[in-house]
Amino acid sequence: MKELKKVSWRSPSNIALVKYWGKHGNQLPSNPSISFTLDKCYSETSLAISEKDPKDRDIQLKFYFDKKENLAFRIKILSFFEGIAKDFPFLSQYALSIHSTNSFPHSSGIASSASAMSALALCLCDMEAKLKPSKGKSEKDKFLRKASYYARIGSGSASRSLYPVASLWGETDRVKASSDEYAIPFENEIHKSFKKYQNSILIASSAEKKVSSRVGHTLMKTNPFAKARFKQANSNMADMISALRLGDIEKFGIITETEAMTLHALMMCSSPNFILMNPSTIAMINKIKSFRELTKLPVYFTLDAGPNIHLLYPENIKSKVIPFIQSELSEHCENGRVIWDNIGKGPVSIK
Ligand code: PMV
Repeated sequence: MKELKKVSWRSPSNIALVKYWGKHGNQLPSNPSISFTLDKCYSETSLAISEKDPKDRDIQLKFYFDKKENLAFRIKILSFFEGIAKDFPFLSQYALSIHSTNSFPHSSGIASSASAMSALALCLCDMEAKLKPSKGKSEKDKFLRKASYYARIGSGSASRSLYPVASLWGETDRVKASSDEYAIPFENEIHKSFKKYQNSILIASSAEKKVSSRVGHTLMKTNPFAKARFKQANSNMADMISALRLGDIEKFGIITETEAMTLHALMMCSSPNFILMNPSTIAMINKIKSFRELTKLPVYFTLDAGPNIHLLYPENIKSKVIPFIQSELSEHCENGRVIWDNIGKGPVSIK
């Protein structure tokens, strides 16, 4: 069938400083979270529509990952589309073809749902705007907010990938415009000392995650410390916001590490319990702490729900931190693998 329209977006991954862990309702977070937007870890996704038999109301979808048809991803996307089809009538009116790739290796242990789902949500909102151009001037802010809303339904953390530098998702009394339904940009709120932060990702293992985040969020429903955790997250959020505003790198670092350790501790004390770090993760954490103590340099780590370390540090100490990573940390990484990322500018529409 003839291709009628096509849209393409590149959207980055993000790394949470205050973590989202636990949800309710339709992908609503149990506590607010805040993240830095990455630069070099991104997904590129295109969505093309072509004619189909108007009597056929089923969603017709072909999904290609790295140019190969991928049936497992197709099933996930189909269920996402079925949940939002009433908001995007074109999903059942046309035959859909989606192509997606990641800049980072598929098997790097780096979560790709944030970049993939945000790129897809941007394609959906863009396609809808192209099919039904609004009379008034379309506002970029509204467009991104809508994309963040639908990205959230695909994967909670994806809601935070829509904006440059930093994003905040979830209601907090510290930020008036905050919402559980979509993330908001936070770039203008943060001190200049954070704007060029580096994020070196130390790949302790590229194996697929032991536990999906879906399972992790569900375990919070029965975790005996859940109530205390949500209280702590709100208080960490308030402190993190003030550290980011004031440029207090030490406070930022302490909260960031506490958040990472808390996420892992929550998994260790859930039922069933899980250890998401491996011996390399622990060896690297110990070395990072010693290096910081010795040099007094503001080098702090965070972790996702897996063994890989995200090392966060300001650009102006790069020349001191890179040799440390190369000589002390990369030996603990799988095949010495490090992804040298930094804070990025957010998604872009691509040709
Ligand atoms: O977006 P999900 O459902 O994959 O959950 C992400 C959870 C963490 O990455 C561990 C934390 C976060 O806030 O990104």
